[in-house]
Amino acid sequence: MRTISGQLLLPAGGQRCETRPGRISIEDGVIREVEPFSNASEIDATGRDTLLCPGFIDAHLHLPQFDSIGAAGMPLLPWLNQVIFPAEMRWNQIDDAESMIRRVIQQCLAAGTTGICAFSTVSHEATLAALQAFQAKGFRGVIGQALMDCGAPDALLRETNELIDNLETTLDQFPPSGRLATAVTPRYILSCSAELLSAAGKLAKSRGAIMQTHLAENVDECAAVEAVHGNYVDSYAQHDLLSERAIFAHGIHLDEADRAKLADTRSMIAHCPTANQFLSSGTMNRHQHLKSKMRLVLGSDIGAGFERSMVRVGRAMIQAAMRIDEDAGDELREVPTAPHAWYQITAGNAETLGWTDVGVLREGASADLLVIKPDVPWREGTCPLSTLMWSWDDRWLTETILRGETVFRGRNEA
Ligand code: GUN
Ligand code: FE
Repeated sequence: MRTISGQLLLPAGGQRCETRPGRISIEDGVIREVEPFSNASEIDATGRDTLLCPGFIDAHLHLPQFDSIGAAGMPLLPWLNQVIFPAEMRWNQIDDAESMIRRVIQQCLAAGTTGICAFSTVSHEATLAALQAFQAKGFRGVIGQALMDCGAPDALLRETNELIDNLETTLDQFPPSGRLATAVTPRYILSCSAELLSAAGKLAKSRGAIMQTHLAENVDECAAVEAVHGNYVDSYAQHDLLSERAIFAHGIHLDEADRAKLADTRSMIAHCPTANQFLSSGTMNRHQHLKSKMRLVLGSDIGAGFERSMVRVGRAMIQAAMRIDEDAGDELREVPTAPHAWYQITAGNAETLGWTDVGVLREGASADLLVIKPDVPWREGTCPLSTLMWSWDDRWLTETILRGETVFRGRNEA
């Protein structure tokens, strides 16, 4: 049994978090007890300024793109062709993929990310290697082989039937019920034939798997989709891809009818504010989406996104909401607070994804947690979560714990 005391990050209702002094006990990888204190003076001396926080959940990222962060900001389609597809081809060499997977795991842990919804490349072998490595380390989440049978260089395309076989094998080896599971991952409509999308929809449904893809990120992309397939949302719906287990990354350029279809099917939009900024894709109107009753998760979208830290992505979510044209009027503009953003990157993402075992410090949850020692004092009368979010420094993270085991120790750890 291990006991740690400090300021606990806890849900406070209204999709917000608050901090409360307290203590958690961990045994056999699980949180056994969460005991709030009535007074901060009960925290032991070493934990006085410590924040104890559930591990962060990144609901959309690309494992093979970590080395491409910041590479040549240009619009989505040329960026994919000139930057990303060449980078993803490197994963056709399994040694290159495996060495990068090891580095990506370290970078996730050093940023406090313990839960992921991740894309691999089209390579089946590299995808299995990623699933094995993330599972061995104890991560929570899903990883999917990027399904691509058209619309990209030959080295990144596979036969439709081969991809469907690969997906079935992966679903058998890493079933959706697992702590780390396979996600059905048609990259986006421009890289998938109708036959492939249909098979993806069927398998996602019959296996109860998370389905992840991209939607309405960039105006040129939307025009290209519209020209060939008609309405973007409808063309996914035709293949039965809209569901409460479906994650559509971006979803910036949507009209009211699109929003209604996504809301009615309880589909999720992965809001990726840093990526939207880097590729100048537009600013997603979070408030408008929420008013349409759409379900949102938050993702770094590395490598279009440039921040590994979900705290910084949470901050970017606030900044994106601040940028929404003030002419839109208050009805379409509401800026989330830091306590909302802390909730989103922990309990909010977990709850929307249906992951009941992580995201919240509560009895019986997996002990996936972070020990954070900020070098700003904990002052009464200010909102500590606002101070911590806006002055965030990754070096404050002293320990990342997965299933009760310390898997990363920061430099500041004594
Ligand atoms: N759309 C299709 N593939 C991608 C990708 O890798 N990144 C982003 N941001 N959008 C995409
Ligand atoms: Fe993406």
